[in-house]
Amino acid sequence: MTPTINHRKSLISCAYHREMRMRKIGILYLFLSMVLVFGSITIVVGQEDEAEMVVPMGIIEIGPPDSVEPARTPVDFPHSTHFASVDCRTCHHKWQGTEIIKGCATTDCHDVTVSPTKSGKGGSNPDLAIRYYKTGYHQMCIGCHKEIKTQNKQLEASFKELKETLTIPGPTSCIQCHPKEE
Ligand code: HEC
Ligand code: HEC
Ligand code: HEC
Repeated sequence: MTPTINHRKSLISCAYHREMRMRKIGILYLFLSMVLVFGSITIVVGQEDEAEMVVPMGIIEIGPPDSVEPARTPVDFPHSTHFASVDCRTCHHKWQGTEIIKGCATTDCHDVTVSPTKSGKGGSNPDLAIRYYKTGYHQMCIGCHKEIKTQNKQLEASFKELKETLTIPGPTSCIQCHPKEE
């Protein structure tokens, strides 16, 4: 039994271990900060995610793809007005929360620029029909606004809710979205 040596040894090993522990903590911090930087993308629409993905606030002017000769005026879409009542993924329905959101008319999404009915490719094919960008937009935008109107009518008819609690519906008529040219 040589407690002094043991003591010294343990001191040395302690110092050694402390240094190793510090290094490990250093590595752990590095790892954690990497998780925070890269991981936040997978967790929520974290700060880092939003910093990388530029989310347009205010109004987005939506016009047809370049190859389309517009018949109507472009739509002033109040993007951030919708954030309060509509979840991101209702509209960006392919978004997993990990990747940067791309435009609606990108490849493999609503990338068909000619009406499938008019092009004779069969408007009866629902997959092709919804890939036509105009159908995609109209179905989503007008669909939801109409849905709210219907719900409001039902609520009013039921006399259960006060008018003030009804959700204001978005526009459903053509010129509300495509204003007449001045
Ligand atoms: C009511 C539907 C709707 C909601 C809700 C919505 N967005 Fe959008 N967002 C759009 C439309 C439409 C565009 C324009 C896309 C285009 O020009 O192709 C857009 C554009 C974007 C863009 C730019 C894409 C590009 O073309 O570069 C980002 C990023 C984005 N939205 C993020 C979000 C986030 C994050 C949320 C939730 C906080 C959200 N959006 C909620 C409809 C919506
Ligand atoms: C899932 C439901 C939903 C979808 C999808 C949606 N909206 Fe709306 N929209 C609303 C609601 C709810 C309001 C009312 C918001 C408010 O005034 O607080 C609204 C309001 C609006 C307004 C009026 C805003 C104002 O300030 O008066 C416009 C314009 C509009 N939406 C355009 C669009 C367009 C264009 C799209 C498609 C790209 C779209 N919306 C998709 C629910 C939706
Ligand atoms: C809630 C908003 C909204 C309403 C209501 C609406 N649209 Fe649209 N419409 C859009 C959006 C968004 C697009 C895609 C952007 C674009 O092409 O201008 C679009 C595209 C179009 C296009 C193809 C682009 C072009 O200019 O040729 C036509 C045509 C059109 N809409 C006609 C109509 C008609 C007719 C009505 C009424 C029956 C109507 N829209 C109602 C939002 C709306």
